[in-house]
Amino acid sequence: MLTLKSPAKLNLFLKVLGRRPDGYHDIASLFQAISLCDTLHFALSGEDQLECSEPSLPAGKSNLIWKAADLFRQKTGLQFNLHVVLEKNIPTEAGLGGGSSNAATTLLAINQLLGYSATHAQLLEWAAEIGSDVTFFLSSGTAYCTGRGEIIRPMPPLPKQTVTLFKPNFGLSTPAVYKNLKVESLNKVDPEVVLRKFIEGRPEYFNDLEGSAFDLMPGLANLKKGLMDRGYSTVLMSGSGTTFFCLGNGKPLDFQGLQSFKAEFIDRPSFL
Ligand code: C5P
Repeated sequence: MLTLKSPAKLNLFLKVLGRRPDGYHDIASLFQAISLCDTLHFALSGEDQLECSEPSLPAGKSNLIWKAADLFRQKTGLQFNLHVVLEKNIPTEAGLGGGSSNAATTLLAINQLLGYSATHAQLLEWAAEIGSDVTFFLSSGTAYCTGRGEIIRPMPPLPKQTVTLFKPNFGLSTPAVYKNLKVESLNKVDPEVVLRKFIEGRPEYFNDLEGSAFDLMPGLANLKKGLMDRGYSTVLMSGSGTTFFCLGNGKPLDFQGLQSFKAEFIDRPSFL
Protein backbone atom coordinates (compact mmCIF):
# COMPACT_ATOMS: atom_id res chain seq x y z
CA MET A 1 0.00 0.00 0.00
CA LEU A 2 1.39 3.37 -1.03
CA THR A 3 -0.09 6.51 0.58
CA LEU A 4 0.41 9.91 -1.05
CA LYS A 5 -0.95 13.38 -0.41
CA SER A 6 -2.58 15.21 -3.30
CA PRO A 7 -2.66 18.98 -2.71
CA ALA A 8 -5.00 21.67 -3.98
CA LYS A 9 -3.83 24.76 -5.90
CA LEU A 10 -4.64 28.44 -6.07
CA ASN A 11 -4.22 30.75 -9.06
CA LEU A 12 -2.54 33.82 -7.57
CA PHE A 13 -3.15 35.56 -10.86
CA LEU A 14 -4.83 34.25 -13.97
CA LYS A 15 -4.64 36.11 -17.28
CA VAL A 16 -6.61 34.86 -20.27
CA LEU A 17 -4.75 35.84 -23.45
CA GLY A 18 -7.19 34.65 -26.10
CA ARG A 19 -9.44 31.93 -27.45
CA ARG A 20 -7.72 29.27 -29.56
CA PRO A 21 -8.93 27.47 -32.68
CA ASP A 22 -9.07 24.18 -30.70
CA GLY A 23 -11.64 25.68 -28.29
CA TYR A 24 -9.21 26.11 -25.40
CA HIS A 25 -7.89 29.45 -24.14
CA ASP A 26 -4.29 30.57 -23.90
CA ILE A 27 -3.66 31.60 -20.33
CA ALA A 28 -0.77 32.80 -18.17
CA SER A 29 -1.17 32.04 -14.50
CA LEU A 30 0.88 31.77 -11.32
CA PHE A 31 -0.14 28.51 -9.65
CA GLN A 32 0.57 27.83 -5.98
CA ALA A 33 0.10 24.49 -4.18
CA ILE A 34 -1.50 24.67 -0.73
CA SER A 35 -1.68 22.43 2.31
CA LEU A 36 -5.37 21.54 1.78
CA CYS A 37 -5.04 18.06 0.33
CA ASP A 38 -6.65 14.73 -0.40
CA THR A 39 -4.98 11.51 0.68
CA LEU A 40 -4.77 8.60 -1.74
CA HIS A 41 -3.87 4.99 -0.94
CA PHE A 42 -2.76 2.78 -3.85
CA ALA A 43 -2.19 -0.97 -4.09
CA LEU A 44 -1.71 -3.28 -7.06
CA SER A 45 -4.75 -5.54 -7.24
CA GLY A 46 -6.65 -8.05 -9.38
CA GLU A 47 -9.11 -5.46 -10.65
CA ASP A 48 -9.50 -1.67 -10.90
CA GLN A 49 -11.45 -0.37 -7.93
CA LEU A 50 -11.88 3.12 -6.48
CA GLU A 51 -13.31 3.69 -3.02
CA CYS A 52 -14.03 7.32 -2.30
CA SER A 53 -14.98 8.95 1.00
CA GLU A 54 -17.23 11.33 -0.97
CA PRO A 55 -20.03 9.18 -2.45
CA SER A 56 -21.18 11.86 -4.92
CA LEU A 57 -17.90 11.59 -6.86
CA PRO A 58 -17.74 9.28 -9.87
CA ALA A 59 -15.76 6.12 -9.08
CA GLY A 60 -15.89 4.90 -12.69
CA LYS A 61 -13.90 5.65 -15.81
CA SER A 62 -14.83 9.36 -15.86
CA ASN A 63 -12.74 9.91 -12.74
CA LEU A 64 -9.37 11.41 -13.71
CA ILE A 65 -7.68 8.75 -11.53
CA TRP A 66 -8.70 6.17 -14.15
CA LYS A 67 -7.77 8.47 -17.04
CA ALA A 68 -4.26 8.59 -15.52
CA ALA A 69 -4.11 4.82 -15.00
CA ASP A 70 -5.41 4.09 -18.53
CA LEU A 71 -2.90 6.50 -20.03
CA PHE A 72 -0.05 4.87 -18.07
CA ARG A 73 -1.10 1.45 -19.41
CA GLN A 74 -1.38 2.78 -22.95
CA LYS A 75 1.97 4.61 -22.94
CA THR A 76 3.99 1.79 -21.36
CA GLY A 77 2.15 -1.33 -22.55
CA LEU A 78 2.25 -2.57 -18.94
CA GLN A 79 -0.73 -4.52 -17.62
CA PHE A 80 -1.78 -3.88 -14.04
CA ASN A 81 -4.83 -3.11 -11.95
CA LEU A 82 -5.16 -0.78 -9.01
CA HIS A 83 -7.11 -0.57 -5.80
CA VAL A 84 -7.36 3.12 -4.87
CA VAL A 85 -8.83 4.64 -1.72
CA LEU A 86 -9.45 8.37 -2.01
CA GLU A 87 -9.95 10.43 1.15
CA LYS A 88 -11.51 13.55 -0.33
CA ASN A 89 -10.99 16.88 1.44
CA ILE A 90 -10.67 19.24 -1.54
CA PRO A 91 -14.10 20.49 -2.61
CA THR A 92 -15.12 19.77 -6.20
CA GLU A 93 -16.16 22.32 -8.86
CA ALA A 94 -14.17 24.69 -6.72
CA GLY A 95 -11.30 25.95 -8.90
CA LEU A 96 -8.82 24.18 -6.61
CA GLY A 97 -7.67 21.52 -9.10
CA GLY A 98 -8.61 18.55 -6.89
CA GLY A 99 -9.34 16.12 -9.74
CA SER A 100 -6.22 17.18 -11.66
CA SER A 101 -4.11 16.77 -8.54
CA ASN A 102 -5.48 13.25 -8.00
CA ALA A 103 -4.56 12.38 -11.60
CA ALA A 104 -0.98 13.62 -11.20
CA THR A 105 -0.66 11.75 -7.90
CA THR A 106 -1.89 8.59 -9.63
CA LEU A 107 0.82 8.87 -12.31
CA LEU A 108 3.47 9.26 -9.58
CA ALA A 109 2.03 6.35 -7.57
CA ILE A 110 1.90 3.91 -10.48
CA ASN A 111 5.43 4.81 -11.50
CA GLN A 112 6.58 4.10 -7.97
CA LEU A 113 4.53 0.91 -7.41
CA LEU A 114 5.69 -0.68 -10.64
CA GLY A 115 9.29 0.41 -10.26
CA TYR A 116 8.94 1.83 -13.74
CA SER A 117 11.38 4.63 -14.40
CA ALA A 118 9.31 7.00 -16.51
CA THR A 119 11.25 10.24 -16.71
CA HIS A 120 9.85 13.48 -15.31
CA ALA A 121 9.60 14.76 -18.90
CA GLN A 122 7.48 11.74 -19.89
CA LEU A 123 5.19 12.18 -16.88
CA LEU A 124 4.74 15.87 -17.77
CA GLU A 125 3.82 14.96 -21.35
CA TRP A 126 1.31 12.33 -20.21
CA ALA A 127 -0.13 14.66 -17.58
CA ALA A 128 -0.90 17.29 -20.24
CA GLU A 129 -2.97 14.70 -22.13
CA ILE A 130 -5.16 14.16 -19.07
CA GLY A 131 -6.01 17.84 -18.46
CA SER A 132 -4.61 21.36 -18.66
CA ASP A 133 -3.89 21.65 -14.90
CA VAL A 134 -2.43 18.19 -14.33
CA THR A 135 1.21 19.03 -15.17
CA PHE A 136 1.29 21.69 -12.46
CA PHE A 137 0.79 18.98 -9.85
CA LEU A 138 4.10 17.40 -10.88
CA SER A 139 5.90 20.64 -10.00
CA SER A 140 7.50 21.55 -6.70
CA GLY A 141 4.61 23.82 -5.70
CA THR A 142 4.98 27.21 -7.37
CA ALA A 143 4.92 27.51 -11.16
CA TYR A 144 4.12 29.98 -13.91
CA CYS A 145 1.85 28.14 -16.31
CA THR A 146 1.12 29.08 -19.92
CA GLY A 147 -0.43 27.54 -23.04
CA ARG A 148 -3.67 25.86 -21.91
CA GLY A 149 -2.02 25.87 -18.48
CA GLU A 150 0.06 22.77 -19.23
CA ILE A 151 3.38 24.47 -20.00
CA ILE A 152 5.03 24.97 -16.63
CA ARG A 153 7.92 27.19 -15.66
CA PRO A 154 9.00 26.17 -12.15
CA MET A 155 9.42 29.11 -9.77
CA PRO A 156 11.25 29.33 -6.46
CA PRO A 157 8.93 29.03 -3.43
CA LEU A 158 7.05 32.19 -2.46
CA PRO A 159 7.18 33.36 1.17
CA LYS A 160 4.93 31.18 3.35
CA GLN A 161 1.43 32.62 3.66
CA THR A 162 -1.70 31.50 5.43
CA VAL A 163 -4.88 31.75 3.38
CA THR A 164 -8.51 31.35 4.32
CA LEU A 165 -10.62 29.62 1.67
CA PHE A 166 -14.37 30.06 1.33
CA LYS A 167 -16.41 27.64 -0.78
CA PRO A 168 -20.12 28.30 -1.30
CA ASN A 169 -22.50 25.35 -1.60
CA PHE A 170 -22.73 25.74 -5.38
CA GLY A 171 -20.05 24.99 -7.96
CA LEU A 172 -19.23 25.95 -11.54
CA SER A 173 -18.01 23.87 -14.44
CA THR A 174 -14.77 25.04 -16.02
CA PRO A 175 -16.01 24.75 -19.66
CA ALA A 176 -19.09 26.87 -18.82
CA VAL A 177 -16.97 29.65 -17.31
CA TYR A 178 -14.56 29.74 -20.27
CA LYS A 179 -17.44 29.61 -22.77
CA ASN A 180 -19.19 32.57 -21.18
CA LEU A 181 -15.99 34.67 -21.08
CA LYS A 182 -15.93 37.90 -23.10
CA VAL A 183 -12.28 37.74 -24.15
CA GLU A 184 -12.41 41.08 -26.03
CA SER A 185 -13.33 42.94 -22.85
CA LEU A 186 -10.25 41.78 -20.87
CA ASN A 187 -7.35 44.14 -20.26
CA LYS A 188 -4.04 43.59 -22.04
CA VAL A 189 -1.72 43.51 -19.03
CA ASP A 190 1.57 41.69 -19.77
CA PRO A 191 1.60 38.62 -17.47
CA GLU A 192 5.42 38.54 -17.44
CA VAL A 193 5.34 41.98 -15.80
CA VAL A 194 2.85 40.72 -13.20
CA LEU A 195 5.04 37.67 -12.56
CA ARG A 196 8.10 39.85 -12.02
CA LYS A 197 6.16 41.92 -9.48
CA PHE A 198 5.28 38.75 -7.54
CA ILE A 199 8.94 37.71 -7.47
CA GLU A 200 9.93 41.17 -6.27
CA GLY A 201 7.39 40.98 -3.44
CA ARG A 202 4.85 43.39 -4.98
CA PRO A 203 2.02 40.93 -5.76
CA GLU A 204 -1.06 41.92 -7.78
CA TYR A 205 -3.78 39.31 -7.39
CA PHE A 206 -6.37 39.09 -10.18
CA ASN A 207 -8.39 36.50 -12.06
CA ASP A 208 -9.78 37.16 -15.55
CA LEU A 209 -12.41 34.43 -15.01
CA GLU A 210 -14.15 36.23 -12.15
CA GLY A 211 -16.41 38.36 -14.40
CA SER A 212 -17.64 35.35 -16.33
CA ALA A 213 -18.24 33.31 -13.18
CA PHE A 214 -20.11 36.22 -11.55
CA ASP A 215 -22.36 36.51 -14.67
CA LEU A 216 -23.23 32.83 -14.38
CA MET A 217 -23.71 32.89 -10.59
CA PRO A 218 -24.53 36.39 -9.32
CA GLY A 219 -24.31 35.07 -5.73
CA LEU A 220 -20.53 34.99 -6.19
CA ALA A 221 -20.27 38.78 -6.55
CA ASN A 222 -22.24 39.15 -3.30
CA LEU A 223 -19.96 36.66 -1.59
CA LYS A 224 -16.83 38.52 -2.76
CA LYS A 225 -18.23 41.82 -1.56
CA GLY A 226 -19.25 40.27 1.78
CA LEU A 227 -15.72 38.89 2.30
CA MET A 228 -14.09 42.19 1.41
CA ASP A 229 -16.37 43.97 3.87
CA ARG A 230 -15.19 41.58 6.61
CA GLY A 231 -11.71 43.12 6.41
CA TYR A 232 -9.56 40.72 4.33
CA SER A 233 -6.83 42.54 2.37
CA THR A 234 -7.22 40.31 -0.72
CA VAL A 235 -10.26 38.30 -1.82
CA LEU A 236 -9.90 36.41 -5.11
CA MET A 237 -11.67 33.56 -6.84
CA SER A 238 -9.36 30.64 -7.70
CA GLY A 239 -9.42 29.24 -11.26
CA SER A 240 -12.93 28.93 -12.63
CA GLY A 241 -14.44 29.08 -9.13
CA THR A 242 -16.32 28.88 -6.96
CA THR A 243 -13.76 29.05 -4.11
CA PHE A 244 -12.39 32.41 -2.92
CA PHE A 245 -9.08 32.68 -1.15
CA CYS A 246 -8.50 35.51 1.29
CA LEU A 247 -5.32 37.02 2.66
CA GLY A 248 -5.03 38.98 5.88
CA ASN A 249 -7.52 38.82 8.71
CA GLY A 250 -11.26 39.03 8.46
CA LYS A 251 -14.27 38.68 10.68
CA PRO A 252 -16.60 35.67 10.22
CA LEU A 253 -19.17 35.95 7.42
CA ASP A 254 -22.71 34.65 7.72
CA PHE A 255 -23.45 33.21 4.24
CA GLN A 256 -25.69 30.21 3.85
CA GLY A 257 -23.89 26.92 3.20
CA LEU A 258 -20.44 28.51 3.16
CA GLN A 259 -17.53 26.17 4.01
CA SER A 260 -14.22 27.62 5.16
CA PHE A 261 -10.73 26.15 5.32
CA LYS A 262 -7.37 27.44 6.52
CA ALA A 263 -4.37 26.49 4.41
CA GLU A 264 -0.78 27.49 3.72
CA PHE A 265 1.34 27.87 0.63
CA ILE A 266 3.49 24.73 0.38
CA ASP A 267 6.76 23.77 -1.13
CA ARG A 268 5.93 20.17 -2.08
CA PRO A 269 9.32 18.54 -1.41
CA SER A 270 9.21 19.63 2.22
CA PHE A 271 5.43 19.12 2.70
CA LEU A 272 4.67 15.78 1.08
O1 C5P B 1 -8.01 20.71 -19.86
P1 C5P B 1 -9.28 20.45 -19.13
O2 C5P B 1 -9.90 19.15 -19.52
O3 C5P B 1 -9.14 20.61 -17.66
O4 C5P B 1 -10.28 21.60 -19.57
C1 C5P B 1 -11.66 21.50 -19.36
C2 C5P B 1 -12.36 22.52 -20.25
O5 C5P B 1 -12.09 23.84 -19.80
C3 C5P B 1 -11.92 22.50 -21.70
O6 C5P B 1 -12.65 21.56 -22.45
C4 C5P B 1 -12.24 23.92 -22.13
O7 C5P B 1 -13.62 24.06 -22.39
C5 C5P B 1 -11.94 24.73 -20.89
N1 C5P B 1 -10.57 25.28 -20.88
C6 C5P B 1 -10.26 26.33 -21.73
N2 C5P B 1 -9.00 26.85 -21.71
C7 C5P B 1 -8.07 26.38 -20.86
C8 C5P B 1 -8.37 25.32 -19.98
C9 C5P B 1 -9.64 24.78 -20.01
O8 C5P B 1 -11.11 26.79 -22.50
N3 C5P B 1 -6.85 26.93 -20.84
